[in-house]
Amino acid sequence: SRVFYLSRHGQSEYNLVGKIGGDSGLTEAGREYARRLAVFARDVIGMKVEINEETGEEKRTPRPARLWTSTLRRTKETAQFISHEKISQFKWDNGDESEWIQFQGRARRNLDELYAGVCDGLTYKEIAVKFPEEFARRQEDKLTYRYPRGESYMDITLRLEPIILDIERTREPILIIGHQGIHRLLYAYFMGLPREKAPYVSIPLNTVIELTPTAYGCEEKRHLLLS
Ligand code: F6P
Repeated sequence: SRVFYLSRHGQSEYNLVGKIGGDSGLTEAGREYARRLAVFARDVIGMKVEINEETGEEKRTPRPARLWTSTLRRTKETAQFISHEKISQFKWDNGDESEWIQFQGRARRNLDELYAGVCDGLTYKEIAVKFPEEFARRQEDKLTYRYPRGESYMDITLRLEPIILDIERTREPILIIGHQGIHRLLYAYFMGLPREKAPYVSIPLNTVIELTPTAYGCEEKRHLLLS
């Protein structure tokens, strides 16, 4: 892709109480982020801006773009106002002329958050009390640590391979609404960071990370949509 955008879902009920994983919905703040993201998607990601060199006038034309979410509720709810934005110039995939839309959407299981197995639904404090040895092992080697009956960051690098290939060969701008762990790895890959650093990359809520691949890595811009 010539440009793609990474966003976490809006604040979820679990984020609010510090629980990891799960499949909770958005809080009111999360829904507000979803509304703002829809405006950003419509007016920035899905818009081609050309400047007339003679008159200095701006010409804005909607352009086709892609929207990928995970299969979890919180990312789909974050996308909900985008899929409702219909723009007349572009065709939805099914070829039905009555269904013209700016974004072509897809929910992808490979984008689901790192699964914490027996720790899913707990807070970090609860994990430290219930599974102190596991907690300590994860602090020691966050990259390869695998939750009992769950996944490690190394495990999810494997399932992100097809996603990375698709990002590289898609020509339209892509908005990926995903999760902290997933975006850390995608970010580290495209920025050329060593893998060991990936689990610590800062991917805050309420922020869209715009990445434009260049010869050596990516140019990065962060857009804070809600503070
Ligand atoms: O807390 C949000 C979350 O996405 C959890 O679902 C996930 O387990 C965690 O972040 C990943 O971050 P870390 O690897 O730092 O625990």
